[in-house]
Amino acid sequence: MNKSQKIFISGHKGMVGSAIHRELQNQGFSNILIRDRKDLDLMEKSSVFQFFKENKPTFVINAAARVGGIHANNTFPAEFIYQNLQIQNNIIHAAHTYGVEKLLFLGSSCIYPRECPQPMQETHLMTGHLEPTNDAYAIAKIAGIIMCQSYYRQYGDNFLSIMPCNLYGPNDNFDLASSHVLPALIRKFHEAKMNQQASVTLWGTGIARREFLHVDDMANAAVFVMNHIHAKDIYSQNITHLNVGAGKDISIKALAEMISDIIGYKGQIVYNTEQPDGMLVKCLDVSRLYQLGWHYRISLSEGIRQTYNWYKQNKDNK
Ligand SMILES: NC(=O)c1ccc[n+]([C@@H]2O[C@H](COP(=O)([O-])OP(=O)(O)OC[C@H]3O[C@@H](n4cnc5c(N)ncnc54)[C@H](OP(=O)(O)O)[C@@H]3O)[C@@H](O)[C@H]2O)c1
Repeated sequence: MNKSQKIFISGHKGMVGSAIHRELQNQGFSNILIRDRKDLDLMEKSSVFQFFKENKPTFVINAAARVGGIHANNTFPAEFIYQNLQIQNNIIHAAHTYGVEKLLFLGSSCIYPRECPQPMQETHLMTGHLEPTNDAYAIAKIAGIIMCQSYYRQYGDNFLSIMPCNLYGPNDNFDLASSHVLPALIRKFHEAKMNQQASVTLWGTGIARREFLHVDDMANAAVFVMNHIHAKDIYSQNITHLNVGAGKDISIKALAEMISDIIGYKGQIVYNTEQPDGMLVKCLDVSRLYQLGWHYRISLSEGIRQTYNWYKQNKDNK
């Protein structure tokens, strides 16, 4: 990407979109196109097509989506599948119609089967049943991946997808009803410390293992892929997307202990084993991206410290 070419980031106020925005600005990209939802509802096909017609972005990074943790996915599956399909259909087809040179679609590691061999390789996509708690969201993301591949196959469009692991960092969602595990733990332990609670109760048994990547690393990977990887490099290897992650996981129990230590909470951690764990292990095989020359930089403990500081400074505005 040339530093003066026009890049549209959808979802620029979200955790991922805002990190990509920061990364592009830090790298000196000067022609970044963004729109607030009130000015451009990505669910509205005619508005999205009018926007592309008027603004003609050269590059598109789609970080807009309906996103949430297990509880939100399980409670609102219709909204998750409808909104995600609608947003990505509008953006991908408008990008094709108005001649976008390259488009990056973001999925998530929940696209892989529930019983997927670990670590999960790109070739494991669609080799088994999905985790039922987030299958609606996963199906929408799989549709987006195959849509990018199909536009390459039929039209030669340079549209490709990356699948990040669990992300965390500034602008994360700390609302306990819809947040992912890591920001939820930060908030719970912070509030327990402030309220001098004797114990904190967590969902599940704590044995489930998850992989986490700081969102600034993910944004750096997204720009790396935009700069160095062509759709044909991916599809010619008989894969549909590239994994992005740290390539190592941690149990929820160990994560909870790390976060409570960083926050300085001294009480007890209790597990509500009647609540679901979700998939027991979830770790991406990131060797393809690493062989292409990218590597993460921010360690988990350093990233949690930084995110906790961000949370303390911003929680009253969230
Ligand atoms: N968070 C993770 O751990 C994670 C992991 C892997 C992959 N990803 C992927 O990264 C992408 C972004 O996730 P995120 O965590 O950054 O989510 P997020 O913080 O909820 O941000 C989503 C963004 O999309 C925007 N948006 C949603 N519906 C819209 C609509 N109809 N019109 C316009 N804008 C709309 C939101 O706008 P408002 O600000 O107005 O709400 C928000 O800015 C998703 O594709 C997700 O699958 C995330």
